[in-house]
Amino acid sequence: MPSRASSSSWVTRSDTRLVPRYGYPAQFDDLAALTGRISELLLSGDYILGKPVERFERSFAAQVGADTAIGLNSGTDALVLALHALGIGPGDEVVTVANTFHSTVLAIVRVGAVPVLVDCTDTDYMMDLDRITALTERHGLALAEDCAQAVGARWQGRQVGTFGDVGCFSFHPSKTLGAAGDAGAAVTGRPGLADRLRSLRGLGQLEQNHHLEAGYSSRMDSVQALVLEHKLPRLDAWNLARRELAGRYTRALAGSAVRVPDAGPGHVFHMYQVIVPDRDATLAALRAAGVDAVVRYPVPIARQPAFAAHDFDPADYPNADFLAENALCLPLRPEMTPADVDLVADTLLSVVGRS
Ligand SMILES: Cc1ncc(COP(=O)(O)O)c(C=O)c1O
Repeated sequence: MPSRASSSSWVTRSDTRLVPRYGYPAQFDDLAALTGRISELLLSGDYILGKPVERFERSFAAQVGADTAIGLNSGTDALVLALHALGIGPGDEVVTVANTFHSTVLAIVRVGAVPVLVDCTDTDYMMDLDRITALTERHGLALAEDCAQAVGARWQGRQVGTFGDVGCFSFHPSKTLGAAGDAGAAVTGRPGLADRLRSLRGLGQLEQNHHLEAGYSSRMDSVQALVLEHKLPRLDAWNLARRELAGRYTRALAGSAVRVPDAGPGHVFHMYQVIVPDRDATLAALRAAGVDAVVRYPVPIARQPAFAAHDFDPADYPNADFLAENALCLPLRPEMTPADVDLVADTLLSVVGRS
């Protein structure tokens, strides 16, 4: 699979792929209003952690049902700063799921803690949030949620990011709420934690030139806040569109050799991941036919050289390995049409067979 960097470089206005994976320009209706606000900002000089960031933080917190949001410069930083703010460090273990993106585990390692992997389930390929919250409450453990791919998703009717001590979000352009560059946020209901996160993102200072601790440089910039503020009111409709398009895929692929996602009603389908026979050949055939499918993630965490020092035994994570070998993601973005979905599903069925 292409690296993250090279997969992003597929996204161009002149993309001629039949069904591309991303369609960023379509997310900018009423562009003149946004560019007008950006022009004003450029002349105001309020570039970093300015008023637009404060406004976006308030509306994002309201959107996800959290008390406070802290704007940061990426989802990766949200994870690192969240763990740091929770006091996690050397001597601690942090449990996470074996089929996650690199950043989840990177953050654990970055604060000096030991990552402990748990295999995902073999049905929905996740970890059970009810059991996790019960476990953390019973043992007095901290809970940080990596919601990077799940802005607007719900579990049992409640928005993700609000179950634990802190929720971490990515606004990478490919996400359900995407900036025009890197951005992220942490949300929390604990005022002390919010203050600590604000201090950490700004070089450990709450007041200029008084550095209470060695922090990070991880402030959201105002241009990204303006972009996010422009898109936020459209998020619910986009997530609904994602769900409807996913439902259409699921109906179109029913009864075939393709295994469709077993997802609950609150899922926002940042990806539509399927299990297919002969995955690599199927992927190649889809791409040759102009369907911009992709594998997330072909090398699971337990097999990544970056974490070799942790001696993970891949045999302990058979479900993560199974996904790495058998899953692929079909294009799914809110501005796709039902006809796009039918075209992709038809192409896939013509490759793997209809029953
Ligand atoms: C599960 C997960 N965690 C963390 C991140 C990191 O987010 P960012 O790219 O904003 O640093 C991502 C982004 O791809 C992700 O998918």
